[in-house]
Amino acid sequence: MTSTNDIRRSFLDYFERQGHARVPSAPLVPHNDPTLMFVNAGMVPFKNVFTGLETRPYSTATSSQKCVRAGGKHNDLDNVGYTARHHTFFEMLGNFSFGDYFKEQAITHAWTLLTREWGIPADKLTATVYHTDDQAFDLWKKIAGLPEERIIRIPTKDNFWAMGPDGPCGPCSEIFYDHGDHIWGGPPGSPEEDGDRFVEIWNLVFMQHLQEADVIVSDLPRPSIDTGMGLERVAAVLQGVHDNYDTDTFKALIAESGVLTGSATTGENQASHRVIADHLRASGFLVADGVLPANEGRGYVLRRIMRRAMRHAHLLGAKDPLMHRMVPALVAEMGAAYPELVRAQPLIEATLLQEETRFRQTLANGLRLLDEATANMAEGGTLPGETAFKLYDTFGFPYDLTEDALRGQGMTVDREGFDAAMAQQKAAARAAWKGSGAKASDDVWFDIAEELGSTEFTGYNGTEGEGQVVAIVRDNARVDKAGAGDEVIILTNQTPFYGESGGQMGDAGRIANDKFSATVEDTSKPLGRLHAHHATINSGELSVGDTVKLSVDAARRDQIRANHSATHLVHAALRNRLGGHVTQKGSLVAADRFRFDFSHPAALTPQEIADVEADVNAQIRHNESVGTRLMTPEDAIAAGAMALFGEKYGDEVRVLSMGRGDGKHYSVELCGGTHVNATGDIGVFKIVSESAVSSGIRRIEALTGEAARLWLNARDERLKEAAAALRTSPDDVPARVAALVEERRKLERELADAKKALAMGGGGAAAPSGPEEVSGVNFIGQVIDGLDPKELRGAVDEAKGRIGSGVIALVAVNEGRASVAVGVTPGVAFNAVDLVKAAVAALGGQGGGGRPDMAQGGGPDGSKGAEALAAVRTALASVAA
Ligand code: ALA
Repeated sequence: MTSTNDIRRSFLDYFERQGHARVPSAPLVPHNDPTLMFVNAGMVPFKNVFTGLETRPYSTATSSQKCVRAGGKHNDLDNVGYTARHHTFFEMLGNFSFGDYFKEQAITHAWTLLTREWGIPADKLTATVYHTDDQAFDLWKKIAGLPEERIIRIPTKDNFWAMGPDGPCGPCSEIFYDHGDHIWGGPPGSPEEDGDRFVEIWNLVFMQHLQEADVIVSDLPRPSIDTGMGLERVAAVLQGVHDNYDTDTFKALIAESGVLTGSATTGENQASHRVIADHLRASGFLVADGVLPANEGRGYVLRRIMRRAMRHAHLLGAKDPLMHRMVPALVAEMGAAYPELVRAQPLIEATLLQEETRFRQTLANGLRLLDEATANMAEGGTLPGETAFKLYDTFGFPYDLTEDALRGQGMTVDREGFDAAMAQQKAAARAAWKGSGAKASDDVWFDIAEELGSTEFTGYNGTEGEGQVVAIVRDNARVDKAGAGDEVIILTNQTPFYGESGGQMGDAGRIANDKFSATVEDTSKPLGRLHAHHATINSGELSVGDTVKLSVDAARRDQIRANHSATHLVHAALRNRLGGHVTQKGSLVAADRFRFDFSHPAALTPQEIADVEADVNAQIRHNESVGTRLMTPEDAIAAGAMALFGEKYGDEVRVLSMGRGDGKHYSVELCGGTHVNATGDIGVFKIVSESAVSSGIRRIEALTGEAARLWLNARDERLKEAAAALRTSPDDVPARVAALVEERRKLERELADAKKALAMGGGGAAAPSGPEEVSGVNFIGQVIDGLDPKELRGAVDEAKGRIGSGVIALVAVNEGRASVAVGVTPGVAFNAVDLVKAAVAALGGQGGGGRPDMAQGGGPDGSKGAEALAAVRTALASVAA
């Protein structure tokens, strides 16, 4: 027997011998087509080569491409297990010519491989051609010698192949294998064509045109060839069986599920074993290509596939999770051809185990509900949509799982009722949200989310991607188009742009295609599930439905990643140094800096700051790779993850583990943000401030990487400048500054003493010439520049002692302002308060007060010292008079 692995190899070897480049399968998540959920044909990775957008170093190629047809346009999920040839995952063998050979060579290759290399009898084969394609008709006659009745002209779309509404297309020619008259069915185009006797094994597409919205708009640069052969089908032919599930690969997987569940693999169990084998392949390959179970998008398709298999495992009587135990058999069958399966084996097993453990918690209760609901239903009955919704909402039964469960009993589900119940739940959520005082301007997000569901973030592993524009919002309203100069919010079905959440700022970058270009300033995440690119259109025009290239500013993202990972390390370091009472109270992760708020009763000491810095930098230098896993919140917390108290987490959480210490990870946290691959990517970590936010909450602001280096450099520059100004070396700056401060203190003291002495008439050029007499009263009046106002009172008291009897008025002028003190000795009939008020008024101020023997005040106009003294003299004179 020729094994499936041999057949795959033989196909690729044949075309390699014919000069074709052997190209490895592309990942299942398409990189070049945002309209596709999964790669579903061998030509998908070559789409841009056909259209001439991309060139490769070869003009012919061959591949064995992983394909998934579940969800989206091609959905075979419902049929798997019940037919001989439906799969969610399959392999498509293909040969491709990008403007190299065309019809004649393609038919020659196909015929040679099938009949000469593989020895399939020519009389078992039939070809179809597009009804107007005389050329292909004649070539089949000439090359294969097929009689005319076995070259069938087909006038329908069956023989015109298109990738989708948009993309390369052309007439095709299909090759059918006749499994023999013991099986019911007729040749293509006959009334019995739907039977299983004649099976299409190979489709040769003569790629010639490009279509948009199902209309041919142009011709490809050069006529090309795309072929697709289902490996599972041709394996059935070459292994002499009729049913794909009887080929070696499937037999091995089904035997394994038989052993592990201890159940027979035939009879009424057959469908369950087939579902398990098929879905195991799809699940394993999807996880290996980076898809993880989720409640939306690709992740939800994966979850539906997994749960459908898990229900069948339950049906077979599996008491414990089964699927993860099947993975070694899958790897044994397919790991040699697809090494990614071997690499991802631990992740596939962990993901399946976790999903099955979780699902089994509600599966039994859900099935009980289903049994009760169907107990009184007759065959052909319809399950109320509300029940199906309850199974979905409460018990985690995807809709198609319920459908599958009823299928065995010949029952169906009321899909409309299910959709209505779903719509009702959404309306209730909306009402509750409105009641919470949300802004009316956010209505538009609800409309979009209701219509489109969520948008998908694809940026954990990269910063580039393609997306299809699903909505444009301008001034809080949806628009179909936008043009140059418009400030809009662009939504695409998938995006590598991170939307602001969890303290991490949104990404910035560029969205463009060959007709338009926009700058994205920020990305937000309305309702927590839409990714809204806040953008300005620089040129061209953008319409809903357009395909665009999304490019995140990667340098900025790298800084954000470094800062975000540093917050996790800081959190762990603070807890280690300060104690377990430290918990995160908030954070802001920007590109140029980050801040981290945490509970702690006191300011950090310089030593504590230095210790935290040292710990984080030590972890950075360990350069351990950063691990990411998806877990339930409960499992994550049990595994030691730091969860934020009071935070609401979804069904799944991403768990980030980082660094090492005491034989375990230094930091384990729940986090949806983007992170470095290894801690060394952070570079260096520097705390630049520590302050209080409110009582019991402290804030650290810090820098990493280049920002930290620049900050440290700037500090060094300042130090050098200071050293130069002080005429010393940077190392001696502290001692020099301390000496200068001491010297200055001494000088200030001496200066104050000198000024006071001056005020006391202690000599010097500005000393007063002694008391004057005003209206028979001794009067000393003086303005002293730079005298400290605090010294005024003492100076007045001293002067009072010196003159024995009289009035003293001293004005101190400092930085343009004036302070005035007036003293009156005992027995002199003046009130110091009245006198000071007169002086204050002259200084442009108001008030002034004290006791009758000593009063003080001040005014803003320091240049009016002489006027203030004159005002006192006038007051003395007028009262005396
Ligand atoms: N692209 C062609 C198909 O998928 C070969 O059938």
